[in-house]
Amino acid sequence: MKAIVYTEYGPPEVLHVADLQKPTPKDQEILIRIHAASVNYGDITARNFGNITGRQFNMPGFFLFPAKVAFGLRKPKKQVLGSELSGVVESVGTNVSKLKPGDEVFAYPGMNMGAYAEYICMPETKAVALKPSNLSHAEAAGLPYGGLMALILLRKANIQPGQKVLINGASGGIGAIALQLAKHYGAQVTAVCSTPSLDYVRSLGADHVIDYTREDFTQNGKQYDLIFDVLGRSSFARSKRSLTPNGRLVYVSFKVKQLLQMMWTSITGGRRVICNMAAESAYDLNQVKSLAESGKIKIIVDQVFPAEQAAEAHQTIEQGGTKGRVVIAF
Ligand SMILES: NC(=O)c1ccc[n+]([C@@H]2O[C@H](COP(=O)([O-])OP(=O)(O)OC[C@H]3O[C@@H](n4cnc5c(N)ncnc54)[C@H](OP(=O)(O)O)[C@@H]3O)[C@@H](O)[C@H]2O)c1
Repeated sequence: MKAIVYTEYGPPEVLHVADLQKPTPKDQEILIRIHAASVNYGDITARNFGNITGRQFNMPGFFLFPAKVAFGLRKPKKQVLGSELSGVVESVGTNVSKLKPGDEVFAYPGMNMGAYAEYICMPETKAVALKPSNLSHAEAAGLPYGGLMALILLRKANIQPGQKVLINGASGGIGAIALQLAKHYGAQVTAVCSTPSLDYVRSLGADHVIDYTREDFTQNGKQYDLIFDVLGRSSFARSKRSLTPNGRLVYVSFKVKQLLQMMWTSITGGRRVICNMAAESAYDLNQVKSLAESGKIKIIVDQVFPAEQAAEAHQTIEQGGTKGRVVIAF
């Protein structure tokens, strides 16, 4: 089968097309013929993981060494990237009961990766679900990661109708869906991103927009019930004045400092810090499917690249300014 592989860490050019053996599903697995896989933050980070420093790592430092061991210290152990996909079930193992050959599915293999290929095997109990019927494969491939993270983390933040919510990083993979979900839950949403993405986040339903290259939202005198910070760029000390007295600052990306702030503010009450890791499941992916089918979440595809241009797909994301998802077609 055709796959995009990388055998060393580095720039986008390390990605190249290779011929790999087509996998065979185990008893509890389905074999998916992948039609589209999208490029996300995790792929870009994993491609260069050997060179990532503690400072660049957007999670607590004590995760870095185990993660480097898991991904490969000097060379990548998992040579096929790609954590979200859309395709068609080609065959199923003997113990598979819910899915059958011919079903159109979308899936989130997550950190197991492997979506940059013509085929992948996944247990049907993992984050795999029937594809939203109103989405193309390219659109559906851009949905699992952002859809799952936004759904799970906003649910944990206990978002309520009528709340004022600020999404810091609203134009990215997670933020663009968090923005739409927050609107769906009845919040008034302020979207923060850079200048080229302002119209994009407006088109997704933002009530207000802030360009972080021109304005610091912590200095504008406005207060929010919930600040959803995707990259963890706002400090709690500075953001306090932007939170209502019982407001919450939700860090999607966090370090040990924010974990300690979460523990401290859970004792003191008032303005609180929340850090959470999302544990994805087939149940949640089915919720994402329903939200997409009812039109509550839309996916904008910025560009589709053939597998042979995977390096260009990564470069496009790294250059920034994309308005929607970048997808690789197989
Ligand atoms: N908690 C969890 O379970 C979990 C799971 C998965 C991922 N994550 C974390 O999520 C993060 C990636 O999220 P993503 O995939 O949505 O990233 P992404 O697609 O790269 O989007 C990043 C967003 O941040 C914005 N941004 C960049 N610099 C900024 C700044 N200085 N101030 C405010 N906004 C800024 C970007 O805006 P412009 O493009 O307009 O510049 C864009 O909207 C990673 O840090 C990862 O560790 C957490």
